[in-house]
Amino acid sequence: MMQTIAWITTLIFILFIAIVFGWVVIQSKEKREYTAIMTKWYKTRKVYGITLVALLIIFSIYTLRELPYNAPAYGKGENPTIVQTEAMQFGWNIDVTEFSVGEQVEFHVTSADVTHGFGLYDEDMNLLEQTQAMPEYTNIVYYTFEEPGTYKILCLEYCGVGHHVMDTEIVVN
Ligand code: CUA
Repeated sequence: MMQTIAWITTLIFILFIAIVFGWVVIQSKEKREYTAIMTKWYKTRKVYGITLVALLIIFSIYTLRELPYNAPAYGKGENPTIVQTEAMQFGWNIDVTEFSVGEQVEFHVTSADVTHGFGLYDEDMNLLEQTQAMPEYTNIVYYTFEEPGTYKILCLEYCGVGHHVMDTEIVVN
């Protein structure tokens, strides 16, 4: 659906640009006094520039206001389940693999050797959360499971010949 919309939108824009090009080619044959054109279009350019900057500021404030997006959804004083998650060539060492619906979980992700990627997937293989698994560093992924099921953890960073076997499952009841 989204792809069809993107495709049609692209075609419309291509057509629009082609029309503008055609118009410019036709117009360019006609000779006119330059100063008047310059004054008019410099003004237009200024209005266009200011509008763009204003839009940029509005969109930036609107889209960035929820940062940091990976802060825990729960408040202070609650008691999340801390899950030590260690990646290694080629597997996962995870100390808790069973959770309940509504449980607030913090995956503390690190690596025993090289850099890996931690990707948490639901049953339909939609990526829910991801971070890097790096040696001597811990990244925290906050997640509250809302649906029961079998979730998957996959490596998202090419880490050697066994990269593709780095998957494991966790269960939410
Ligand atoms: Cu670990 Cu790819």
